[in-house]
Amino acid sequence: MNWAGIILAAGEGKRMKSAKPKVMYAIAGRPVLGHVIAAMREAGIGKIVVVTSPSAAAVRAYAESLGAAHVVQEQQLGTGHAAACAAPALAGFSGTLLINNGDMPLVTSDTLKAALSAAEGTGLAIVAFQPPDAGAYGRVLCDANGYLDRIVEAKDANESERATTLCNAGTVVADARNFFCWASKLENGNAQGEFYLTDIPAIAKREGVRCAVMEADATEVMGVNTRAELADAETQMQQRLRAKALEDGAGMTAPRTVFLSFDTVLESDVQIGPFVVFGPGVTVRSGAEIRAFSHLEGCTIERGAIVGPYARLRPGAQIGENAHIGNFVEVKNSTVQKDAKANHLTYLGDAQVGAGANIGAGTITCNYDGFDKQRTDIGAGAFIGSNSALVAPVKIGDGAYVGAGSVITSDVSGGALAVTRAEQKEHAGWAAKFRARKGAEKAKKGN
Ligand code: UD1
Ligand code: MG
Repeated sequence: MNWAGIILAAGEGKRMKSAKPKVMYAIAGRPVLGHVIAAMREAGIGKIVVVTSPSAAAVRAYAESLGAAHVVQEQQLGTGHAAACAAPALAGFSGTLLINNGDMPLVTSDTLKAALSAAEGTGLAIVAFQPPDAGAYGRVLCDANGYLDRIVEAKDANESERATTLCNAGTVVADARNFFCWASKLENGNAQGEFYLTDIPAIAKREGVRCAVMEADATEVMGVNTRAELADAETQMQQRLRAKALEDGAGMTAPRTVFLSFDTVLESDVQIGPFVVFGPGVTVRSGAEIRAFSHLEGCTIERGAIVGPYARLRPGAQIGENAHIGNFVEVKNSTVQKDAKANHLTYLGDAQVGAGANIGAGTITCNYDGFDKQRTDIGAGAFIGSNSALVAPVKIGDGAYVGAGSVITSDVSGGALAVTRAEQKEHAGWAAKFRARKGAEKAKKGN
């Protein structure tokens, strides 16, 4: 089939009360627009055009990064006008168009596919749903045969029309040539003075084309217009991602407290404790355990590794097989090889930690001088004593020891001991003399 998609994303998003375009707000670590593009792609729609407002350069850049085309709607004259703006980008296209609001992050490819097939009979279909509260949604009025009579926007509806519970999701499927012809006939004599996409079926009807109505699951097609709806969409998406992870064999003690990203990979038999947050780009391999209150982003955890509680893994952290990253340990752009341990209060940045190395509590890789980042290389089986600062660039050889409290500024040879702290001195009997002197002074003051 020859399918193309138009995504409407040029609205001002006034109800968000934000300078940021609403389609750029993230749901499960990916902008709302990215979810819509992904669902369309999965449904088999290759060519996608995103309609953007002149000021939304970020939306255009993001669409481009996902391989979608974009056009500018110079003035926000309504959803029908916005869809018509995509015409030049689709010049020469003949086939079926799927037009979707850009603010529908929960839509699935199955629903879009169902909408595409619903239009096969008549060449026109819309998607409808029954939200718990019809509120500001357009009302879908059907004829006796179940075809669409017309859509009335809430602001234009009379009382009995507003009482209708079937609402317009915002998805329209139509033959491309017919669509642009109908769109040129739209008028804006309505409550908002806009050219509504929702008037297309009424125009088609005048020309004898019936519009099929495909009813979708209400949670899938909810629009994100306010911050409260954005939060609701996040909740729904999290439920979906958690259910999928559990079904795929990940263990979670308290799923409702675990936050996943759209691309989180949890292999079977991983165990996730309560209150763990996954930013984008995380893979956890079979048998690894992520303990409570850990925050992970852009990292890979190999089989059998243990992370947390209270660990922070930042982009570029690679935790090897059976390695341990414990409480209050931060790892960024560093590889921790198999069986290595950093169990307490440590910062590993731009580092390599060799297999089986032990990083003592309070170890810090000093990787930044205010201008450049430098690397620390810790050899296999090395032992870094507690509270050591490793000033990069620096290398600690295989099997070497660094004495606790050392500040290491030059390379340490394999198998050596490096200690930089002042040597310990002992004064025999000092404590008793000290106490006697201080006690006498205090007694004198007291008199
Ligand atoms: C729209 C529908 C409504 C439906 C609801 C579903 C119309 C007139 N109304 O209302 O029937 O129930 O979606 O969520 O279509 N946009 C542009 N250019 C514009 C105006 C809007 O690109 O000039 C884009 C917005 O960025 C948004 C989409 O179109 O992604 C829908 O606009 P929005 O203002 O959210 O419409 P709703 O009031 O939600
Ligand atoms: Mg909307």
